[in-house]
Amino acid sequence: MGITFLEKEKVFRLDTPNTSYYMGISDDKYLGHIYYGKKLKETNIRYLLREQEAPFVPSVNGRDKLSYMDCFPMEYPTHGVGDFREDAIAVRTKGGHTALELHYKGHEIIKGKPMPEGLPATFGGEDDCETLKVYLQDEVLSLEVVLSYSVFKDADAIARDVKVINHGEEEIFLTKVYSACMDMDNKDFELLTLHGSWARERHIQRNPVGCGFQGVSSVRGESSHQHHPFVALLSKGATDDCGEVYSMHFVYSGNFSGLVYRGQFDNVRMMMGINPEDFCWKLEKEEAFQAPEVVMTYSGEGLGAMTRAHHDLYRKHLIRSPYKDCKRPILINNWEATYFDFNTEKLIAIAKEASRLGIEMLVMDDGWFGNRFDDNRALGDWFVNEEKIKGGLKYLVDEVNKLGMKFGIWFEPEMISPDSDLYRAHPDWAIAVPGREAGLCRCQYVLDLTRKEIVDYVFDRMCAVLESANVEYVKWDMNRQLADLGSMNLPADRMGELSHRYVLAVYDLQERLLQRFPNLLLENCSGGGARFDPGMLYYSPQIWCSDDTDAIERLKIQEGTALIYPLSSMGAHVSDCPNHTVGRVTPFETRGYVALAGTFGYELDVTKIPEKDRNMIPKQVAMYHKYYPLVNAGDYYRLASYQENGLRDAYMVVSKDKKEALLTYVQVMMRPNCHSVIMRLKGLDAEKKYKVYRFNIESGEEEEMMPEALYGDTLMQAGLRIENPWGDFRAMLISLREV
Ligand code: GLA
Repeated sequence: MGITFLEKEKVFRLDTPNTSYYMGISDDKYLGHIYYGKKLKETNIRYLLREQEAPFVPSVNGRDKLSYMDCFPMEYPTHGVGDFREDAIAVRTKGGHTALELHYKGHEIIKGKPMPEGLPATFGGEDDCETLKVYLQDEVLSLEVVLSYSVFKDADAIARDVKVINHGEEEIFLTKVYSACMDMDNKDFELLTLHGSWARERHIQRNPVGCGFQGVSSVRGESSHQHHPFVALLSKGATDDCGEVYSMHFVYSGNFSGLVYRGQFDNVRMMMGINPEDFCWKLEKEEAFQAPEVVMTYSGEGLGAMTRAHHDLYRKHLIRSPYKDCKRPILINNWEATYFDFNTEKLIAIAKEASRLGIEMLVMDDGWFGNRFDDNRALGDWFVNEEKIKGGLKYLVDEVNKLGMKFGIWFEPEMISPDSDLYRAHPDWAIAVPGREAGLCRCQYVLDLTRKEIVDYVFDRMCAVLESANVEYVKWDMNRQLADLGSMNLPADRMGELSHRYVLAVYDLQERLLQRFPNLLLENCSGGGARFDPGMLYYSPQIWCSDDTDAIERLKIQEGTALIYPLSSMGAHVSDCPNHTVGRVTPFETRGYVALAGTFGYELDVTKIPEKDRNMIPKQVAMYHKYYPLVNAGDYYRLASYQENGLRDAYMVVSKDKKEALLTYVQVMMRPNCHSVIMRLKGLDAEKKYKVYRFNIESGEEEEMMPEALYGDTLMQAGLRIENPWGDFRAMLISLREV
């Protein structure tokens, strides 16, 4: 780890355990990008800063400044002064001008990592983290831009953010402020992104990078089901195990834009930040704007190494809950079990049976408050409905606690139904444009959280509920997107701040909740997985992956999610069949193996499922306890992708010391006349010998798959023979232990 500045050459060097990042200050004081890649021995590579390469006359303030600006690999390109590629920052002055030019002013290298105020971000102490701050300035506007870069001793990642300060006399409008940008030569790059929809989140997509713009974005007020705030550039043909991968992941939960621009000189610019659409932030004299953080990684060993860098970084430097390193309770959620049709009696009946089977927490989902008999009403009325919850919340929670179970509850704090007491009292609390009827979605409006009194109201209501009984878990949901952007609170010249202020308010609310209830286990959720992002992970160690609980659909969702998120963060439950979303019937055993790739739980009525399935629950519970340490902390390796091959899915988790490993294999489709597959394993120690076992869910025992122990080398190079089970949707767990 380390950050150095070569005074004479004017070059910054940032090292992570296996990578180096270089920037240089040009003779004309522009900050340029030089290199990001495998760690180098060489310290001075200033010769690579493309200072003299403009297509025409390479003189900055002479004849051809514009051609210079249009090809220099600018570390943080600005709008309106000749760099006609996508820029990272843009402003509008009081006089209506938009030109902005940044020159190097100074820098600072500090131990540790200052946290951006009011925003989630990776963290690190003075012993394991170092930060570079580069101060840039536009002399004409007296605008200061601070670029921050942090490196970690134990993770191959760089965390970047940007702060803009107006030192000028006049107000200035920030109309765009990306958090990261990087220029590179094109290496026949392919762009990897995650796309989806409700019940189909984070499917992996990969396309060649053509000339022009490509990317992902959201203007929905949340990170969204549709696109994920993540982009990766892969050298052509890169696989899980080889090739180069550059990634950017946004630690933010609102509108974003992740872009790749391939330009005329076959260079590629990669960027990530707040979506400039609808964004405009007014900076009065000496006011500052803090842009959220982007995590960047480089891997010279394919996607797998990128994945493991993200997992390690997030586990060590982003998730901060007391539950971070401890086992999460196995929960049962009543949503798919009862939907809105429940009462105290039903919940206690479920809890009784669940506790008998070894389940550790009951989560009461939507429908416990106000007049919430269906999803057309009552959001905002956070008062327990005692007609349904007879005896009150405390009685219910105490009864559940008596069974030895914890209790959790669902909230959708950001919403208001038109049919609610809250809306009748405060119709102006919803986000809306005056004179225009706001659009409904799931029959609800969004609360205007830019108003402090509304945030306080929601906070107080949540606290009142949480303090009234021993509630140890909250599922925080968000079931619609933002539209009709208008706030009574904001003047016309600050209306463009609404979406970002909204996200800051959500962060503030979650932070306040965690301060008040430090041991609370928070699980974020948004119509399934529409707000599964690193921003949310800072507040909640687990996030609900998707409303689609079908084991087969989950393979794709979980593969895409696990590409960048540790398994310990992925909410995954066993549900009933036919699956409520896709109608598919899969073996109960398979549903358990698939849910093991996340925070394990159930989403069904244990009192109603077939006896055979119910009897398997204690066995699955034991399986979860047995393999939890490995799944939670191990290194993740993908062996086969159902999304790619249409037949089977397989991944491994290997302990850090490589003494044990777990392979999950799902045969999605049986292929006739094909008796076995040979899987080349990954991540083992070539020199260690391993015994291979197949886990038997019925006995809870691991059974030898073959009498002899094999070298890791053999298992990785020659492979393991797996006999194909008979039938579709069949799965198995294979465990490996060093002998
Ligand atoms: C969303 C969530 C579900 C459930 C319902 C309740 O769709 O993703 O898990 O909580 O809301 O309305």
